Amino acid sequence: MAEQRTPAKFYQPLAIGAPEPLRALPVRLERMIHFVPPHNEKIRSKIKDIAGQVDVVLGNLEDAIPADQKGAARKGFIAMARDTDFGSTGLWTRINCLNSPWMLDDVTEIVAAAGDKLDVIMLPKVEGPWDIHYLDQLLAQLEAKHAVKKPILIHAILETAEGVNNVEAIAAASPRMHGMSLGPADLAASRGMKTTRVGGGHPDYGVLADPSGDGAPRPFFQQDLWHYTVGKMVDACLAYGLKPFYGPFGDFSDAAACEAQFRNAFLQGCLGAWSLHPSQIEIAKRVFSPDDKEVLFAKRILEAMPDGTGAVMIDGKMQDDATWKQAKVIVDLAKVVAEKDPERAAAYGF
Ligand code: GLV
Ligand code: MG
Repeated sequence: MAEQRTPAKFYQPLAIGAPEPLRALPVRLERMIHFVPPHNEKIRSKIKDIAGQVDVVLGNLEDAIPADQKGAARKGFIAMARDTDFGSTGLWTRINCLNSPWMLDDVTEIVAAAGDKLDVIMLPKVEGPWDIHYLDQLLAQLEAKHAVKKPILIHAILETAEGVNNVEAIAAASPRMHGMSLGPADLAASRGMKTTRVGGGHPDYGVLADPSGDGAPRPFFQQDLWHYTVGKMVDACLAYGLKPFYGPFGDFSDAAACEAQFRNAFLQGCLGAWSLHPSQIEIAKRVFSPDDKEVLFAKRILEAMPDGTGAVMIDGKMQDDATWKQAKVIVDLAKVVAEKDPERAAAYGF
């Protein structure tokens, strides 16, 4: 039995009257996905301001919203979506998970009331492609019913052992896939990791240097607990043209550790992270906008090899077709950043 639709069928709408699936993701800057609790009226009243400071506003309906506030959060999100002009800022929601009592109403009510405003639905606790297929079909039916004009994309949270096992099949499941975020808190629980944190490192996870023989203290180097999963997620996403993200960092008092975790993810290929606290917005902007010096150096590589082939030396470093491609990744991202950020545009020399 075939595991996937034929290429001809893959890009057909799953319901008569639903919009055509996209062939490529829209080019959008998504350095931080900023979480807001939509049942909180005070935060809702400031949403226009918040939207002006971030790349994506996400109305969170899942974990961290108390069970008795789920309905209020959904209604608050709909009000927020309808009443706010988000401009070039993305509007996402994180719905409740598929086996919860709230998920069906989350999707049906939100698409009915605000389907044309919504860019992306973040689906938590995705275990395999079957979860994506279900939401894909349901969204197509609802888009058709409510005459939604552009397809609502799906962003999966990778936060169960089974999901990590199936990450490639999840990436391949539908043209509606936008990308994935690592969910370190749920993933730690699902895997039986012995931690009590939301992302970040652990002081006991590391490598002890060999004894030097003279009895001197042996240095211990802390390692990144999430390196393997981020790498696996990045490969699955990039192989299918999707966008990988680091998720939440829960210790708001440790900005330096948050920045280090975000930067590891950025260097490994991620394009953004979640901001759960206003202080993390600037951290994400700093980390997920390429460094000025790197951009200027990358521009020199592109200029030195106009057709992207051959080999040249720049500042004693060998450049060839492969470093040209790396430079292009950085310059392409810098161009997207520059469109939204005049200060960085000047620093990048655009
Ligand atoms: C996010 O949802 C996480 O579980 O880390
Ligand atoms: Mg989670």
